[in-house]
Amino acid sequence: MIIAKTIEALNEAKKSLKGNTIGFVPTMGALHQGHLSLLQRAREENEHLIVSIFVNPTQFLEGEDLDAYPRKEAADIEICERAGVDIVFMPNNDVMYEEDELCIGAPAVRGYILEGEKRPGHFDGMLQVVMKLLHLSSATHAYFGKKDAQQLALITQMVKNYFMDVQIVPCEIVRDEKGLALSSRNVYLKDDEKERALSLSDSLKCATKLVMAGELDVEIIKKEMLKVLDKADKVEYVAIVNREFKALKQVEIGNTIILVAAWVGKPRLIDNLWI
Ligand code: PAF
Repeated sequence: MIIAKTIEALNEAKKSLKGNTIGFVPTMGALHQGHLSLLQRAREENEHLIVSIFVNPTQFLEGEDLDAYPRKEAADIEICERAGVDIVFMPNNDVMYEEDELCIGAPAVRGYILEGEKRPGHFDGMLQVVMKLLHLSSATHAYFGKKDAQQLALITQMVKNYFMDVQIVPCEIVRDEKGLALSSRNVYLKDDEKERALSLSDSLKCATKLVMAGELDVEIIKKEMLKVLDKADKVEYVAIVNREFKALKQVEIGNTIILVAAWVGKPRLIDNLWI
């Protein structure tokens, strides 16, 4: 496995890849089982596998946890090695950015609702770095978790709008045995908070039960979910949208995402369910 810290080193390492398909998994490190499932799928479906580890400053807002974001370089490298990664790209900020850059922006509607409304500017920075990483990796297939559903939708749109020659592969959410969606930020949760954090996945289970019982009215489902979310410290939103992120009045089976964002202790958590 080659560890490349500069663009030159990455380009040199890519010369050793002789196959036709390159799977790419961009990450911000602190790799967990959720990342591992992306690595495994990308490994299975491609001749080569590149992973990036870069805590991207432009997608953190003022006052967010950029400095405190968990960093576990040595453990991450070991995980990549075991997962059969060919190249780990680990640039620093100077490698990735210069001053006064040309930027792409998130779309005016879909980029500024839900996560985009609560974290204005986050998606601009995220798309900016993903665009760079997709170009740098020369990926044929790039793997993203459905947990960041809006991120996934915007990246898919960027690839379409900018005619980029890469296939975006959505991957299932990975949960712990109790149902908590895995996230690097879960390390911030204290024991009692871990229990209360389950209210996010429990609220989605509640929505599933209602839909399975034939309840499709979005307002009724949201009201019931909010009761379950009572254990969170602050609920930021419960939303029911179609796969294009347009608000729905009635759940459309096969075309709906139910999303929730809430604070539990230190971290802000998100989760969702695709129906
Ligand atoms: O989902 C993430 O970890 C990040 O947003 C990504 C896609 C690696 C871009 O920094």
